[in-house]
Amino acid sequence: MACALPHHPLFHFLLLFLLPFSIVARTNGIVAMGTSITANNKDTPWLSPSGVLEFGFKPHKEKNLFLLSIWYYKIPDQTIVWYGHDGVPVSTGSQLSLTVDRGLVLNDPQGKELWNSQLILNDNVAHGFINDTGNFIMESGGVIFSRLSETNFSQGRFQLRLLPEGNLVLNTRDITSNFSYAAYYINDTYDSSNLSNSGYRVIFDETGFMYILRRNNQKFYITQSMLFPATEYFHRATLDFDGVFTQYYHSKNFNSSTKWTPIWSKPDNICVDIGRGEGNGACGFNSICKLNDNQRPDCKCPPGYSLLDPNNTYGSCKPNFTQSCLEDDINSAEDIYDFETLINIDWPISDYEHMVPATEAQCKRSCINDYFCAFAILGEGSCWKKKVPLSNGREDNVVNR
Ligand SMILES: *[C@@H]1O[C@H](CO)[C@@H](O)[C@H](O)[C@H]1NC(C)=O
Ligand SMILES: *[C@@H]1O[C@H](CO)[C@@H](O)[C@H](O)[C@H]1NC(C)=O
Ligand SMILES: *[C@@H]1O[C@H](CO)[C@@H](O)[C@H](O)[C@H]1NC(C)=O
Ligand SMILES: *[C@@H]1O[C@H](CO)[C@@H](O)[C@H](O)[C@H]1NC(C)=O
Ligand SMILES: *[C@@H]1O[C@H](CO)[C@@H](O)[C@H](O)[C@H]1NC(C)=O
Ligand SMILES: *[C@@H]1O[C@H](CO)[C@@H](O)[C@H](O)[C@H]1NC(C)=O
Ligand SMILES: *[C@@H]1O[C@H](CO)[C@@H](O)[C@H](O)[C@H]1NC(C)=O
Ligand SMILES: *[C@@H]1O[C@H](CO)[C@@H](O)[C@H](O)[C@H]1NC(C)=O
Repeated sequence: MACALPHHPLFHFLLLFLLPFSIVARTNGIVAMGTSITANNKDTPWLSPSGVLEFGFKPHKEKNLFLLSIWYYKIPDQTIVWYGHDGVPVSTGSQLSLTVDRGLVLNDPQGKELWNSQLILNDNVAHGFINDTGNFIMESGGVIFSRLSETNFSQGRFQLRLLPEGNLVLNTRDITSNFSYAAYYINDTYDSSNLSNSGYRVIFDETGFMYILRRNNQKFYITQSMLFPATEYFHRATLDFDGVFTQYYHSKNFNSSTKWTPIWSKPDNICVDIGRGEGNGACGFNSICKLNDNQRPDCKCPPGYSLLDPNNTYGSCKPNFTQSCLEDDINSAEDIYDFETLINIDWPISDYEHMVPATEAQCKRSCINDYFCAFAILGEGSCWKKKVPLSNGREDNVVNR
């Protein structure tokens, strides 16, 4: 019997934890029944046969906290590829055990169960096995969450889903209710005229290729070519905390300066591709998204606005001022308020009025004398007045505003 845990959505990415065999030893990947490991700085994590991957409690950046995870052991950047317990770190003294009836069980220092691997077993577990390869399979209906931030592994705003009808999509969600907003990437593997052509599995195999498998066994490749063969390179894929889904490679023949390098990423331009409706887009409300040289989003507040949470540059921005409509102001708005001009920036769905035709002077005058107007966008002879909070802000040459 072999159980591949990654079929479960909790298994955020990569990695197999197979469960056959017996006997314990640190170097051959096998973990004996009843073995346990404690969250402290002394217990040795479980190592895969070739020492590529390690499984156990990884010290968190905050003191006395540990993250139950699997990480690359050999390379200098010990990248985490999977984490349990929904990414919530546990305190010193927590324990992970391999049990006969329930697979892996995580207890807090007082022995209270925090998490288990939720294996659906017809049979009892015989042993654990840390496999070197880690091919990943996502079934129809499966979902992967981004983490919340670079350092917080809780479920974030972005999702990768293989929808039951066959499309692979990326979308943001409302964190409290799980409601999914419009997709910002769709790989159209749904064929309404012929369901046997629809996608039903996403596979990231041991050769480093990722593809969508259609019901008729056709493979729809997301990884287009392999210039970096898996014999010489490690491969991993992650839905990063900034919403970009990326496959990376890393040479197996590395030195201290070797880094993970992207092979491809989706969507092509998250700042422009995201935001066809509700939700705040790649950055927070009132924020502006700009793609950087690494094809990743940078977020910044408009002039006169600052971060709501100064520690979260990807979050929302608040105005430094309050817009007032005191009677005194009504005839003197143009004396009180001023305009800042921003180029090629837009919040495409925050309009409440649209003036055509409109000159720059008319657009400015209309906005400055309008209590509701936060921003006015001018382009193609049109003036759009915008209300707060602004969402899906982007700065890009394609904007032309
Ligand atoms: C590791 O996983 C691969 C792919 O699933 C499998 O073919 C192989 O047998 C596994 N290795 C062991 C030792 O179980
Ligand atoms: C991660 O973020 C969540 C949600 O904001 C918060 O409740 C939790 O305490 C954070 N975890 C850590 C380790 O900072
Ligand atoms: C959202 O869905 C995930 C996966 O199905 C689940 O783990 C999480 O608890 C859900 N959150 C809410 C608020 O329902
Ligand atoms: C549906 O697609 C399958 C596989 O491509 C094909 O064999 C079959 O003939 C198609 N059915 C129809 C009704 O077009
Ligand atoms: C789906 O992915 C393939 C491979 O990356 C690409 O050629 C195709 O254009 C994509 N389809 C859509 C609708 O994005
Ligand atoms: C590290 O390896 C790369 C090639 O992979 C090489 O270009 C570079 O010079 C090496 N750096 C050091 C410090 O050895
Ligand atoms: C807005 O407020 C923040 C924090 O109080 C400050 O750092 C920033 O300079 C202010 N910006 C403007 C344009 O007033
Ligand atoms: C920002 O982070 C620092 C250090 O983690 C913390 O001391 C501070 O309270 C945080 N500020 C806010 C507004 O959350």
